[in-house]
Amino acid sequence: MILGIETSCDDTCAAVVTRAGEIRSNVVASQGLLHERYGGVVPEIASRRHLELIDAVIADALERAGASLDDVREVAVTRGPGLIGALLVGLSAAKALAAARGLPLTPVDHLHGHVVASTLGPDPIEPPYLCLVASGGHTFIARVDDLRAHRRLGGTLDDAAGEAFDKGARILGLGYPGGPAIDRLARAGDPEAFPFPRAAPGELDFSFSGVKTALLYAVRDLGEREAERRKADLAASYQSAIVEALVARTRTAVEREGIERLAIGGGVAANSLLRERIAQAAGELGLRLWVPDFSLCTDNAAMIAGAARFGEPIAHPGYLALDAAARLEAAA
Ligand code: KG4
Ligand code: ZN
Repeated sequence: MILGIETSCDDTCAAVVTRAGEIRSNVVASQGLLHERYGGVVPEIASRRHLELIDAVIADALERAGASLDDVREVAVTRGPGLIGALLVGLSAAKALAAARGLPLTPVDHLHGHVVASTLGPDPIEPPYLCLVASGGHTFIARVDDLRAHRRLGGTLDDAAGEAFDKGARILGLGYPGGPAIDRLARAGDPEAFPFPRAAPGELDFSFSGVKTALLYAVRDLGEREAERRKADLAASYQSAIVEALVARTRTAVEREGIERLAIGGGVAANSLLRERIAQAAGELGLRLWVPDFSLCTDNAAMIAGAARFGEPIAHPGYLALDAAARLEAAA
């Protein structure tokens, strides 16, 4: 069994996964409420909270897996990218556990974890495939020919898609995180009410700062009362602009690469319009689509333990000097 640990942002996560890709447990202690009042993640608060939670979360993951440390053959941990203080808590815990038992430790690129999340469970995706990862911290399209690595085909030039949802929600006076709130409100609105900027066709990179500014101006031009009255239309139009950009680029990538398998991941993969549109696109393009369970889309340690199956374990005590990295060079 592989024990996975993930603390790159504001979720304290541990999981137990077998070499065959079976998820025995996948525990996430979310800090969402702790950061809600600040409208975003406060790095120093996140690190301290990880420190308080990590031992209990690991114990819980082992217990739910019906396992003990004796059953663990390898420890996997997110090395980056992420908040450096947050990463250090998970990495230190992983090193301590592995070193105490003389186990190997496998450092994992968080982004690669998202990309290979669909290889877990009873119906694993196999290369070659493309993966759209859209979360609060990252948005990119990757190509996978070999599960050890991915190649980035395009990504966001500014905000991540989830970040755009969160910032839009803040402009509309909805809570944090904003994605689910916009998703809900948009159901009652007209996605064509406001002509927010759409994706330029044929490109693989994303930019979400323009649509965010467009929303800000629309709200300002409408005035407080009118903006409040048309909130659902604003949310629906804004969501549609983000989702169409994601789907358009994914389509372009699929057509350019000529690949017949597609996966999506990241917290934004929970968005109901994105799910609908991407499934529709997959149908039109004759692709097979993998949409992992939501628990594998948002940050979690199962994807980290899962990715470690394709990584390079470092034998004890070689990893003691290993450092966390806020940024990893593109994992190609
Ligand atoms: O993957 P994740 O849990 O954390 C990061 O790695 O960032 O993604 C969180 C992001 C947040 O920005 C949140 O607003 C967004 O995913 N999100 C959604 C939905 N549910 C979560 N965005 C749009 N629609 C949703 N239903
Ligand atoms: Zn993530």
